[in-house]
Amino acid sequence: MAESVRMTLHPEFRISDIDQRIYGSFIEHLGRAVYGGIYEPGHPQADADGFRQDVIELIRDLNVPIVRYPGGNFVSGYDWEDGIGPKEQRPRRLELAWRTIEPNLFGTDEFIDWCRKANTAPMLAVNLGSRGLEAARDIIEYCNHPGGTMWSDKRIANGHTAPHNVKVWCLGNEMDGPWQIGHKTADEYGRLAHETAKVMKWVDPSIELVACGSSNRNMSTFASWEATVLDHTYEHVEYLSLHTYYGNPTNNTPNFLAKSIDMDRFISSVVGICDYIQAKKRSKKTMYLSFDEWNVWYHSRAADRAMDPWQVAPPQLEDIYNFEDALLVGLMLITMLKHSDRVKMACQAQLVNVIAPIMTANGGPSWRQTIYHPYYHTARYGNGVALNLNLSSPTYHDAEFDAVPYVDGVATWNEADGELTVFAVNRNLSDALPITGDARGFAGYRVVEHITLTHPDLKAVNTQDNPDNVSPRSNGDAQIVDNELHATLAPASWHVIRMKK
Ligand code: AHR
Repeated sequence: MAESVRMTLHPEFRISDIDQRIYGSFIEHLGRAVYGGIYEPGHPQADADGFRQDVIELIRDLNVPIVRYPGGNFVSGYDWEDGIGPKEQRPRRLELAWRTIEPNLFGTDEFIDWCRKANTAPMLAVNLGSRGLEAARDIIEYCNHPGGTMWSDKRIANGHTAPHNVKVWCLGNEMDGPWQIGHKTADEYGRLAHETAKVMKWVDPSIELVACGSSNRNMSTFASWEATVLDHTYEHVEYLSLHTYYGNPTNNTPNFLAKSIDMDRFISSVVGICDYIQAKKRSKKTMYLSFDEWNVWYHSRAADRAMDPWQVAPPQLEDIYNFEDALLVGLMLITMLKHSDRVKMACQAQLVNVIAPIMTANGGPSWRQTIYHPYYHTARYGNGVALNLNLSSPTYHDAEFDAVPYVDGVATWNEADGELTVFAVNRNLSDALPITGDARGFAGYRVVEHITLTHPDLKAVNTQDNPDNVSPRSNGDAQIVDNELHATLAPASWHVIRMKK
């Protein structure tokens, strides 16, 4: 047994109330996310709207509070008007972001209907790439104005008498990226986002807006992009976005599992930039963060490069996730919970088939990928307030991150329900680590369940034929004795220690 890990559980080690929207997700018109994913008319499990009920059940189970739509890179070339009205009159279009054919059989109204059925809220992105202020003004009028105007009356004519009341809107997508349709400099985007935000809020002052931050921390414009964009938009938006994806292409798992430290530094840097602009403007307003694309993404890249263009809903970005990916996803969720004072929304990218926790076969079943499990656990049990554990853990050396703690974790406390939960990952690939926690701050609490996710093979996957190969078990040994929490964290493992009063 290696050196032990120490933590303290105390209600005063409060980070923040957790905004449940930190467990959001994302559906883009990309690959089989929409067609063959959430929407497949003719599938044995499809309802009258063509929505797959098996997929909706998995999503309801996941407890996803908000879903971003329709992109992603897709939105920067999207004419939203193509996706409303009678389906037989909707155009088929060349979709230039992903080099496919978009049939437009699913659009804004279908997405809103689907959200209601999936028990989630919409987060819509407007096109600030090929379009701009006018299209943004029109779509918000279509969605949120009660009636009596051209666009709101079109919505009513299309069968939606009540406004969609979409609360959260993204001002474009990854506008700093040269790959983006209508890529802009920070000043160009900042001015456009400011003017668009102003007009959208004139249509509906109750909305919340997200301005685009950098596409990732390695962009050469990172930090100056954020500062310039916020200089233009600070008083008109509520959130700044962050995106990041990690991979393990060189099969260096200790380094891969340390990538959540990069995410942590990314968040801290963006918080610093937001606060700098706040100070510069002598503003009373705190800028919050929307980490609206995050995940592991690398398995499918070679297959995508070889794919023929101009197909309808080809199997793009279909990463088959393995067990170590689930560990990093758990670590990324822990990282965001530790920053829940500023990260108020986040979207795992994406939800179905495209770099997703849920997979489907066209005409066939749906199943949970490995990464579904830490997402499920945090969305289900990680509510209330986030608590810092004041963790001390032995470390290992990594060339990129120096001293990496073997164990990372966070606690959440739902005071109303008397539920306290510790989420933790052991990055040590060979040794179990004992943990000891001072639990005097939670006298009277006992362990009701210790869920673990482990597997002898870091590369183990869940497939259509073997969907439960990597799945959680309630077999951990955590217990509280004399106000001290004791547990053993198996090598390479995810843990959910549930305690109740
Ligand atoms: O989620 C896949 C893509 O990743 C999105 O379309 C884009 O915003 C990001 O680069």
